[in-house]
Amino acid sequence: MIRELNAQFGIEGELDFVEDESGLAVAKIDNAQGSATLCLQGAHLMSWQPRSQKTPVVWLSRDAKLAVGKSIRGGAPVCWPWFGAHATESAFPGHGFARTVPWRVIESGKGIDGETRLALRLVASDKTREQWPHACNLDLVITIGETLRMELITENTGSDDFVIGEALHTYFQIGDISEVSVSGLEGCEYWDKVGGSSLRKQNGEIRFSGETDRVYINTVSECVIRDEKLMRSIHVAKSGSLSTVVWTPWIDKANKMGDMGQPDGWREMLCVESANALENQVKVASGTRHTLIVEYRAVSL
Ligand code: BG6
Repeated sequence: MIRELNAQFGIEGELDFVEDESGLAVAKIDNAQGSATLCLQGAHLMSWQPRSQKTPVVWLSRDAKLAVGKSIRGGAPVCWPWFGAHATESAFPGHGFARTVPWRVIESGKGIDGETRLALRLVASDKTREQWPHACNLDLVITIGETLRMELITENTGSDDFVIGEALHTYFQIGDISEVSVSGLEGCEYWDKVGGSSLRKQNGEIRFSGETDRVYINTVSECVIRDEKLMRSIHVAKSGSLSTVVWTPWIDKANKMGDMGQPDGWREMLCVESANALENQVKVASGTRHTLIVEYRAVSL
């Protein structure tokens, strides 16, 4: 399989497929603008570092493990076709099944400025159809360069409309959670998931001093993570997304999770997720497609 992938989609000196010790295939991208790794299971981008940065911009837990059928802690998990718990079936996996099933590469190529482009499609199976009995294609198109662009395309190929929840659940690398701020969501309403679920309004920029798990709704804004310790800001721009999820587990929850990177991996990550969740779920009419796009860039302070 690896030999075939390299023969069909590999790009000499730029894109190479290797097999991880778990047996899963991983794409390694290294071009003039940046580097990244991506696990084909889940179309899970695991790391990204533009050339201009001394440290990665996308965080991967040092305890992250690749295993068949399991999600990877860190990177940019694809949450689809629902976000969070399934509305009615408690046995269905949180954040949907897209992040734990095989995807296949459908295209690779070089951009005119030295970026690398990779497109993947979710492989539907009896198991996925049991949880999602709709005819559709789900593609992820990633462009890796000095900026990182991801397009998550849902195409309804069936005769019935359907509704999806989704997110690009990206973990960003930060210096210290207590020294960063997030701007762009001032004045927005959010569902606060810590200690129940209540609707609140954001006053000013966000700063962190405890577990934070919020779904900001009805927002198309670009968010900026300002990081005084790493002396950079990370810009999170998006389209086709009306929700932004901001999540940090903090110490107690991180310790219970067991894969956040002991002792203090949780301090060095922050999720700013471009999503369509809760009241922002999207109806995809028969014969149409919906696209969620994110673009990330890091700027030195
Ligand atoms: C966030 C949710 O998007 O993902 C949190 O808002 C959740 O509630 C977190 O804990 C991590 O989820 P998981 O399934 O990857 O552990």
